[in-house]
Amino acid sequence: MPLSPPSTNQPQRILLLTGASRGIGHATVKRFSAAGWRVITCSRHAFPENCPWAGGPEDHIQVDLSNPQDTLRAIDEIKRRLPQGELHALVNNAGISPKAEGGARLSTINTAFETWQHVFQVNFFAPIMLARGLVDELERAKGSVVNVTSIAGSRVHPFAGSAYSTSKAALAALTREMAADFGPRGIRVNAIAPGEIDTAILSPGTEKIVEHIPLHRLGTTDEVAKIVYVLCTETSSYVTGAEIHINGGQHV
Ligand SMILES: NC(=O)c1ccc[n+]([C@@H]2O[C@H](COP(=O)([O-])OP(=O)(O)OC[C@H]3O[C@@H](n4cnc5c(N)ncnc54)[C@H](OP(=O)(O)O)[C@@H]3O)[C@@H](O)[C@H]2O)c1
Repeated sequence: MPLSPPSTNQPQRILLLTGASRGIGHATVKRFSAAGWRVITCSRHAFPENCPWAGGPEDHIQVDLSNPQDTLRAIDEIKRRLPQGELHALVNNAGISPKAEGGARLSTINTAFETWQHVFQVNFFAPIMLARGLVDELERAKGSVVNVTSIAGSRVHPFAGSAYSTSKAALAALTREMAADFGPRGIRVNAIAPGEIDTAILSPGTEKIVEHIPLHRLGTTDEVAKIVYVLCTETSSYVTGAEIHINGGQHV
């Protein structure tokens, strides 16, 4: 069947992206804005001056996702910025991976309780708070949620700490639960699980891991962003509850 050309009089689609200031988030904002989306970004810092997309400073919301009250405040602010009350995509990308002194791995034995709580608030509770808080807006747009998990969610990783890894495992399980609950409202919910992507989150010693990755290299942030884009657009219209590995075959 021939494909019809995209309609030009459709309203601009809107993405809410957490953790947009660096790494995978930064590549994601570039990919969506190049495709004509309006991107509302969230992170703790003010909008960086050197950012390449128009409308960026006005569409940036400063929020500390480790603080539940601040997250609720940001949700109200986001709703006010959606002209038709519609949100086409939510990408829960912000994530933290704290290390011990000298960059050492934090294990189940030496992770302070406050660290577990902090990591879970940012990596796990903030995504469900945002998705629940914006469920009506996502429903109106028949939108899509993408949760950014990690290869560390399914295996012990030499550098990723235990709180980080378990928060990502919980986020993968949350993706499944949300797909079941949000699906009847027309919202798709998927996860992407990156492996070793060339960003600041990587630890010294990653070269050793790369030797064992079938594709023998790190991934790029754009290689992640383009799969996020697919999960938020028509190409993936019958995909929900999936967790896509983006890791050069590291999981095999
Ligand atoms: N890079 C990899 O190889 C890799 C592998 C597997 C999974 N991942 C996952 O991919 C996602 C992005 O990773 P990345 O490497 O691109 O991360 P990154 O470069 O460390 O960036 C993290 C982003 O999250 C924001 N952020 C951190 N804490 C926040 C908070 N409390 N409130 C609001 N925003 C906060 C940061 O902005 P501010 O500092 O301005 O707040 C930043 O934009 C994360 O979920 C990570 O776990 C990455």
